[in-house]
Amino acid sequence: MHKLYILFLVITVLSIFVSGGSPDSSWATDLLLHNSLAWNDPPIQYWLSGFHHNPYGDIIILSPGAGLDHHSFDPQVLPLVIAGYRVITYDPRCQGLSQWSNPVAKSNCTITFDLMLQDMNQIFSSLAISPEKQVIQAGLSMGGMLAQQFSKVYPNRTKALIAMDCGTNEELLPWMQYYLDTPLGTLIADDNNTSFNAILNTSNRTLVRQEIYNELSLSGDAEIVKAMKACASAVSNDPGFTRLQIPELLIYGQLDSLTNASMIEWYARDQANPHISLISIPSAGHISSLDNPSAVNQALIQFLASI
Ligand SMILES: *[C@@H]1O[C@H](CO)[C@@H](O)[C@H](O)[C@H]1NC(C)=O
Ligand SMILES: *[C@@H]1O[C@H](CO)[C@@H](O)[C@H](O)[C@H]1NC(C)=O
Ligand SMILES: *[C@@H]1O[C@H](CO)[C@@H](O)[C@H](O)[C@H]1NC(C)=O
Ligand SMILES: *[C@@H]1O[C@H](CO)[C@@H](O)[C@H](O)[C@H]1NC(C)=O
Ligand SMILES: *[C@@H]1O[C@H](CO)[C@@H](O)[C@H](O)[C@H]1NC(C)=O
Ligand SMILES: *[C@@H]1O[C@H](CO)[C@@H](O)[C@H](O)[C@H]1NC(C)=O
Ligand SMILES: *[C@@H]1O[C@H](CO)[C@@H](O)[C@H](O)[C@H]1NC(C)=O
Repeated sequence: MHKLYILFLVITVLSIFVSGGSPDSSWATDLLLHNSLAWNDPPIQYWLSGFHHNPYGDIIILSPGAGLDHHSFDPQVLPLVIAGYRVITYDPRCQGLSQWSNPVAKSNCTITFDLMLQDMNQIFSSLAISPEKQVIQAGLSMGGMLAQQFSKVYPNRTKALIAMDCGTNEELLPWMQYYLDTPLGTLIADDNNTSFNAILNTSNRTLVRQEIYNELSLSGDAEIVKAMKACASAVSNDPGFTRLQIPELLIYGQLDSLTNASMIEWYARDQANPHISLISIPSAGHISSLDNPSAVNQALIQFLASI
């Protein structure tokens, strides 16, 4: 298992002991169980947690950011399972382990929001989750935009939206214009690890930077650029595109200059939704789930308990 994950697992289990609870050792056999959509192009890898312990628990799917993978949510998985949820984590197409190993096929991998929604639906149907079943859509950065997209396209299948460290899908953030205007080949040729380093640089913590570095390295520079272009291309210029009437939790790292201001604007704009809340995570940059897991977990669990 992953180093960082084991660290968070130990911390969580210890904190339960300290608080007087009695952790069930069989949890360990119900966490991050690996599955694959082997027939998909590319094959999508996903992980199930809590499906045995919480057979009737709400399902929450966590989508990671551009170039990142399911390990971005390692610190969230066990606390959500303990709180009674079934958790799906996965590596988005062309990222993490959801890639072809053949270099030609790998470099031919395509990222669009439509394809990522298709992949997500494939995960649901492989788990026999019927279209009538509402899921909780959560995601960070690109994943937060994808969660919004799902909520918009399938309003009746979404119980709640949790958007972390991302803009709304109706606002082109300043960095996006260049990715939108420039052809993909030029973007990749000119990038020279700029996107990689920009994402890496959003955390100051050594252990977190190591984790981000590992995740981005698995994806590779070109795939990160493709994912960033997919984000820019997913923005609709229809103001009101993502006005949702479901419970929404917006979470931002206080130090995340990429999204902190736009999440505050988003919240202000959507005050008409009585079910929206906004939480800022102290001492966290863009990947708040890793930078300050305990504050993120507390925000998630409080919100989920309220819906
Ligand atoms: C590249 O992708 C296209 C569209 O997905 C597919 O038709 C084609 O076979 C792929 N080429 C290679 C070399 O994998
Ligand atoms: C969603 O549910 C509402 C009310 O039940 C219904 O009127 C609407 O047609 C449904 N929309 C979709 C896209 O299924
Ligand atoms: C790429 O970045 C490296 C290190 O920052 C630099 O030395 C090199 O000149 C850059 N190459 C291009 C083509 O921009
Ligand atoms: C980008 O960074 C990766 C990982 O450090 C490295 O393997 C690769 O050579 C770098 N590419 C460029 C163009 O600097
Ligand atoms: C990342 O941060 C380091 C030091 O904090 C800085 O030297 C470097 O230029 C930054 N790189 C990017 C791409 O922002
Ligand atoms: C957003 O983050 C930047 C960089 O850490 C910081 O300077 C700025 O004050 C933050 N803005 C808000 C509204 O928190
Ligand atoms: C990283 O450290 C610099 C310098 O101490 C600080 O200004 C910045 O806000 C920090 N950023 C994050 C994301 O922690």
